[in-house]
Amino acid sequence: MTREGTSTLIRREDYLAPAFWIRKVELCFDLDPLKTIVTSKMQVERNAAVAHGPLKLHGEEINVLRVLINGESVSFRTEDDTLVIDNAPDADFALEIRNTCCPEKNTALSGLYTSGGSFFTQCEAEGFRRITYFLDRPDVMAVYTVLMRADKTKYPVLLSNGNLVEQGELDNNRHFAKWHDPFPKPSYLFALVAGDLVAREQRVRTRGGKDHLLQVFVRRGDLEKTEHAMNSLIASMVWDEARFKLPLDLERFMVVGVSDFNMGAMENKGLNIFNTSALLASPATSTDADFSRIESIVAHEYFHNWTGNRVTCRDWFQLSLKEGLTVFRDQEFSMDMAAAPSARAVCRIQDVRQLRAMQFPEDSGAMAHPVRPDSYVEINNFYTATVYEKGAEVVRMYQTLVGRAGFEKGMTLYFERHDGQAVTCDDFAQAMADANPGSELTKRLDAFKRWYSTPGTPRVTARGSYDAISRTYTLTLSQQNNGAAPQVIPVAMGLIGHGGQVLPLELQGEAEYHGNERVLVLDQAEQSFTFLNVFVEPVPSLLRGFSAPVLLDDGLSDADLLTLLTHDTDAFNRWEAGQRLALNRILAAVRSGTPLQLDAAYVDAMRSVLNHPQLDAAFKELALTLPGEAYIAEQLDVVDPQAIHAAVEAAQLQLAQALRADWVAAFEANGTIAGGYQPDPVSVGKRSLANLALAMLVLDTQAADAAVWQGRAYQRFKDAGNMTDRLGALAALVNGGAGLADSALERFHALFKADPLVVDKWFALQGRAPEREGRTFAKVKALLKHPDFTLKNPNRARSLIFSLCMFNPAAFHRADAAGYVFWADQVLALDAINPQVAGRLARAMDRWTTLTEPYRPAALEAIRRVAAKPDLSPDVREIVERALA
Ligand code: ARG
Ligand code: ZN
Repeated sequence: MTREGTSTLIRREDYLAPAFWIRKVELCFDLDPLKTIVTSKMQVERNAAVAHGPLKLHGEEINVLRVLINGESVSFRTEDDTLVIDNAPDADFALEIRNTCCPEKNTALSGLYTSGGSFFTQCEAEGFRRITYFLDRPDVMAVYTVLMRADKTKYPVLLSNGNLVEQGELDNNRHFAKWHDPFPKPSYLFALVAGDLVAREQRVRTRGGKDHLLQVFVRRGDLEKTEHAMNSLIASMVWDEARFKLPLDLERFMVVGVSDFNMGAMENKGLNIFNTSALLASPATSTDADFSRIESIVAHEYFHNWTGNRVTCRDWFQLSLKEGLTVFRDQEFSMDMAAAPSARAVCRIQDVRQLRAMQFPEDSGAMAHPVRPDSYVEINNFYTATVYEKGAEVVRMYQTLVGRAGFEKGMTLYFERHDGQAVTCDDFAQAMADANPGSELTKRLDAFKRWYSTPGTPRVTARGSYDAISRTYTLTLSQQNNGAAPQVIPVAMGLIGHGGQVLPLELQGEAEYHGNERVLVLDQAEQSFTFLNVFVEPVPSLLRGFSAPVLLDDGLSDADLLTLLTHDTDAFNRWEAGQRLALNRILAAVRSGTPLQLDAAYVDAMRSVLNHPQLDAAFKELALTLPGEAYIAEQLDVVDPQAIHAAVEAAQLQLAQALRADWVAAFEANGTIAGGYQPDPVSVGKRSLANLALAMLVLDTQAADAAVWQGRAYQRFKDAGNMTDRLGALAALVNGGAGLADSALERFHALFKADPLVVDKWFALQGRAPEREGRTFAKVKALLKHPDFTLKNPNRARSLIFSLCMFNPAAFHRADAAGYVFWADQVLALDAINPQVAGRLARAMDRWTTLTEPYRPAALEAIRRVAAKPDLSPDVREIVERALA
């Protein structure tokens, strides 16, 4: 592979409209794993708005055979990854290009590749140029007709976007299929699949009376695992019509599973392609978390049909236009599916936990970038938590500022204006504002749009003062983000008395009365709000439902937090109060360098939550789970990962010990669920609490009945009726360092060795296991040589290597630097196979500058070693260079 001249910085401000448009494409594929021949006939016209110039097409790792214009051969040259035609006509013309590519050797899994003997494509962001020469940019939209020819025995199923118009037999045991997609689309939405697949099918009629065929294609043995995905797809269709009046616009909607895939899934028009890990589910092989992830990814890709496909991005800087919006939509869908208010809160808490674990560190690390980045070297590096999850928070703030009905009006106007276009984040903002004149958003639209351009997590400080004589409460909010101009921060809030009274909110200077919950809009560096007729001293409950993606310092005392934990009417803030109590204790121990010792007040509060007669099991599990180590690290200027880990482990063990009788009760109350497996919120909550309780009971190896609980965990592992219970019991044994862990691991592997997605869980569990005297790290290194391990399959690479480097700080950050050496070796090995996956792994060092001695210099050395490799992919090069900048 030659990698020269590929590391150029692309800037948003340099955007230029394309010099040519491609309006129609006819593609013909003669599929062969080693040499596929692609013929592309394009209808091209000059963009009159752009000055006369050569036609330059993108192409990568393909061999051009011929180029014809209006049927005549034409002179062309290739420069790096561009094909240049200097004498393109001024009038519209037909351009024909024939080239070859080699799907079998395509281990990068971008473009056309093979997996398990079938053909698949992945074209977002710039994979289409690895199939044929094209204007591979999202603002060039064409109508595609695709003819596929392939061996009939090996590839009985031939799929592409849109509708099947023709199929038939050819000589030499070959056959063909012709597909036509009536919707103009950018090349990144093109897809093709050819292989020996089977489909679950379902015909549905939508509200408008239109009939559709839904199909989920998988390998032969996997058909029984597609029911959940099909149900999720149908639920998504129903929801999008009900909530946003957005119907399915195709007669046929296909979903295909593939084992080798770089990301979760891809929204190709009418032909979504999924990582099998985001598609296949069965109670015996998938956990509750898998069921819920599949539901949300199926929904996410389906929702892209409107937010992404019908209205797409003008350029890749606008990625959050489709991703932030679509994540927001899939989050809303999951909440609506959860239905009950408490289950909705559980969804929200999980989303925020994810944001804090992944996006907050990103926003303060080497790869920090705004939701709409200003520059990139490799766009694949910008499919990030910031673009996706923070982008979704930005969309959520629109809804908070204009209300749910106002948001729906904004969406309607957005589609009225931009259906069929490739647009920008500004266009979305404008539609939201114009649909809601006079709203809190529209009044300060320009300031609100700073969310798109400002990197970093704003810090909000809140201080209140109560005047008992005048019965007024003044809340002063201020914000700070490395000197950036103030953001528009919606602060949903309420006031609670120490006895649990919900206090009315009467804001000074405001005619209207807003009840006992409202949104304050903080848009200055500092602002004060005075509430009248506050009859007792209140505790402010701020940022309810996590109404903005900020770090909040509200200065609340333990007593205040305990009040919120017990009485807040907002379930999110109840949970948050418990997290803050834990965080304060962990931070105090880490900062002072003293061993953590939990106090009775905290332990009693946790006991009350655990034994609470009304709270849901799901909420209890979340409240009793300590804050994540990555989020804890974000609160510190200098990070000692071992100290953080030791404090968290100590807190966990003390909760296990102090609440032992309560954990037993929780396990007995939630450990068995009558009837068959159902992934509904109530059952899921019970299983999650039972698993936490079991983990706690196995964790305390000093308890008098330690052996009993280890035995019970092993028994439960063996007899489990579903994967959630089985993996939960196995994790309790492995994470608790139980003597039976090894034999359980062996048994698990023997049971599931034929199912790659379960083998991934087996590797991941070992990669994430708590470090004990270096044994976890040694085990991971040994597992690299396991016959089931391979770097070529992204899921497998992630299951072992990413688990260690990104999700197991105590095993990764070693005083002897062996973790960093391991990281560098794996990044380099992966880079030769799959740069996108290597680029992801490279990001394990994003936050190295905050590490304390001896980690920091050792990390630097490892990063330098990677950077010194001369032929790095642009993906990895960009990440390590930013880390060293
Ligand atoms: N658009 C896809 C999704 O979020 C993600 C595909 C990104 N692929 C990539 N190679 N960067 O649904
Ligand atoms: Zn997406």
